[in-house]
Amino acid sequence: MTQIEVEIDSILANSKRSFGDQSHATGRGGDAVFTWDYERSRDGLSRLYEKAKRTQWNATDLDWSIDVDVEKMANQMAELAGGPGAGRSIMADIDGSPVASWGVKEWSEFRIETLNWRLSQFLHGEQGALVCTAKIVETVPWIDAKYYASTQVMDEARHVEVFARYLDTKLTGHYPVNPELQLLIDDVLRDNRWDITYMGMQIMIEGLALAAFGFMHMFTEEPLLKQLLRYVMADEARHVAFGTLSLQEYYQELSGSEIRERQEFAFEAALRMRDRLLMVQVWEHFDVPQAVIREFLVRLRQGQAWFQAPLFSKIVPNCKKLGLLDAGDGWLRQRFTEIGVIEYEDHGDAQLDVELLDAVTADRLAAQ
Ligand SMILES: [Fe+2]
Ligand SMILES: [Fe+2]
Repeated sequence: MTQIEVEIDSILANSKRSFGDQSHATGRGGDAVFTWDYERSRDGLSRLYEKAKRTQWNATDLDWSIDVDVEKMANQMAELAGGPGAGRSIMADIDGSPVASWGVKEWSEFRIETLNWRLSQFLHGEQGALVCTAKIVETVPWIDAKYYASTQVMDEARHVEVFARYLDTKLTGHYPVNPELQLLIDDVLRDNRWDITYMGMQIMIEGLALAAFGFMHMFTEEPLLKQLLRYVMADEARHVAFGTLSLQEYYQELSGSEIRERQEFAFEAALRMRDRLLMVQVWEHFDVPQAVIREFLVRLRQGQAWFQAPLFSKIVPNCKKLGLLDAGDGWLRQRFTEIGVIEYEDHGDAQLDVELLDAVTADRLAAQ
């Protein structure tokens, strides 16, 4: 077997994992830390905390009376995002693929399921952020960071709430969490090092999510989803900024070998998100046989057609801001160059996003 086949088999094996019908419990690493130093010594975090308190919104601020035509939305989004795409023609070309005979109706259903799947992963990812941020409140040793993280817990609760409500009342089905996403979140939670929760959630997973929200916001004309994403993104940009501000300070204290461990963690998480977050569950929903799904994924990987480099547009610049790209012998710069994402190193940074999205919040407050 080739290396690609081995990896696809491991992804397919993981896709069979169940995280429970009702709940999933996972171990959590790291001590809960109390600090007796209550002095507000970190101005950047302090300002972010004040801003977070001023800009809290409520799910009821969104216009839930809007009627959503799911089919129209799914088709429109697919058209704006570039039509059927290489992946679907690869799937249709495989011997025995039921997809070969699909017509307009089936592709339309597929697009709807894709949308349901994506929004479901946003929902589960938001819950991951909720739990990770609660862990940060406990484990981070600085009072200013505990204060700020507590506002993020509230933000993430609201995000879970609005995605769940959108899925329940406007879309046509839920999907369980993508196992690869849950496995990554579980690893982040299990780690004993407090900064790894930040690194995994605020920098890597939220960085990817912010880019994905941005694409969906760009490609949907459905007004409620657009509004929902804008509100969520305004918060998320602040969350990524919280991660970079905190880690920039902490990473200055670490030794060369400790920094290398963080570089390796960042790269491994990036690869897992790039290569393993696949829509196996959607193809299974349409009863595509496992052997066909396997062949599809192998061909997709060989052709690199699945790879959406722009999803790294937030991650790479934030790693740069943390000093991780060039630390040591530039190990992470080398890796990001090899996987073709280094071009994003100077892409608009999180601070810029915070400012842009604050303008959105100001609009909203003015309209109330
Ligand atoms: Fe969130
Ligand atoms: Fe967040």
